[in-house]
Amino acid sequence: MIAYELVPKLIRAALNNDKKAVESISLMIGRKIKKEYPQIASEIMQITANSNVGADALRTLDLSPAPVDRESRNQLVKVEEPIKVEEPVLNSDIFGQINDFLRERELLEKFLEEDIIPPNSILLSGKPGVGKTYITKWLSYKLNLPIVTVDLATSISSYLGRSGQNIKSIFDYAKSQNVILFLDELDAIAKRRDDMGDLGELKRLVNVLLKELEECPVTCVIVGATNHPEILDKAIWRRFDRSIVIPLPGKEERKKLIGRTLGKKIEDMKLETIRFIVNSTDSISASEICKMCEHIKRQMLMNEEEKADILALKECCRIIELKDRNEKVQLCRLIKKDFPGLSLRDISNITLISSASVGRYLKE
Ligand SMILES: Nc1ncnc2c1ncn2[C@@H]1O[C@H](COP(=O)(O)OP(=O)(O)OP(=O)(O)O)[C@@H](O)[C@H]1O
Ligand SMILES: [Mg+2]
Repeated sequence: MIAYELVPKLIRAALNNDKKAVESISLMIGRKIKKEYPQIASEIMQITANSNVGADALRTLDLSPAPVDRESRNQLVKVEEPIKVEEPVLNSDIFGQINDFLRERELLEKFLEEDIIPPNSILLSGKPGVGKTYITKWLSYKLNLPIVTVDLATSISSYLGRSGQNIKSIFDYAKSQNVILFLDELDAIAKRRDDMGDLGELKRLVNVLLKELEECPVTCVIVGATNHPEILDKAIWRRFDRSIVIPLPGKEERKKLIGRTLGKKIEDMKLETIRFIVNSTDSISASEICKMCEHIKRQMLMNEEEKADILALKECCRIIELKDRNEKVQLCRLIKKDFPGLSLRDISNITLISSASVGRYLKE
């Protein structure tokens, strides 16, 4: 059967609201076209992965059934096949560290032959949106290993009393196959054991986690992620072979992210506009920068008669907070210089600075 012969089936399933069938037919199509159209196949995998795939689809991954909570029967993990993602944009030092880990995993056999213990765990910390999940997806793609994600904040805490058992079954599952075990929001469980508020259950949980991390074989890759490294138990820190703090993107990284996300659309913008956006986005995350650029692209498509620079600056001003008077003056002047026909009111609309202030800044 070739891929497009499955399309009528897919349409029927969709019109019947049969979500499970839609998922499994989509995955079948994805697998069939993987060689010829890897990009589209990867997109299909991503869509199905993001839609909380049911058991049907998991079977196509050749993995054993995912562990469930014994009482509620809810699945404890989310399983995603590797999909193609572009290299994360990181400064060379951080990228080098991630890449070293990747290389060490790629050379696993060689390490074992030489009796060298290869590292198998990495702890990523950093503010929301700096790319912890994205880096994990990239590792999954490069190592061609599915990701088994445990969202500790939501899943474990709702099974209070059984969470130790649940952690064990998650690790048993991950250990029995070749996957990346992704422990997201690790701080949710890994609170400091000496915290006053942490009572028996949480302490037990941390102990189970420590033991499982300790006993995990080198064949299993573990990635931990946290936004709050300061509340992590020190003992948990120590269990990870590498700990990497992912910073907000620096100037070079912002340039790259903006260029990559805007793609060809960047050619419609003046160099000065790009420079302003790069300089003024120093306090936001890579994720916010990507989102801003997606907004800009959509705006450009919807308002073809409007100048790209104006649309871009408008979006930028809605996301960032202009730092100081100096930056505000600079922005107003930049706009006035490039678009002398704009009124104070127009500039105020773009920048969200009052017309009176715009007038003052331009006179100075
Ligand atoms: N370093 C990066 N390089 C390229 N793209 C990035 C990077 N960081 C974030 N992004 C983009 O932002 C999106 C969101 O980032 P991601 O989910 O990885 O952040 P996170 O650190 O896991 O955040 P959270 O703490 O909220 O889970 C990614 O899907 C990707 O498109
Ligand atoms: Mg994340």
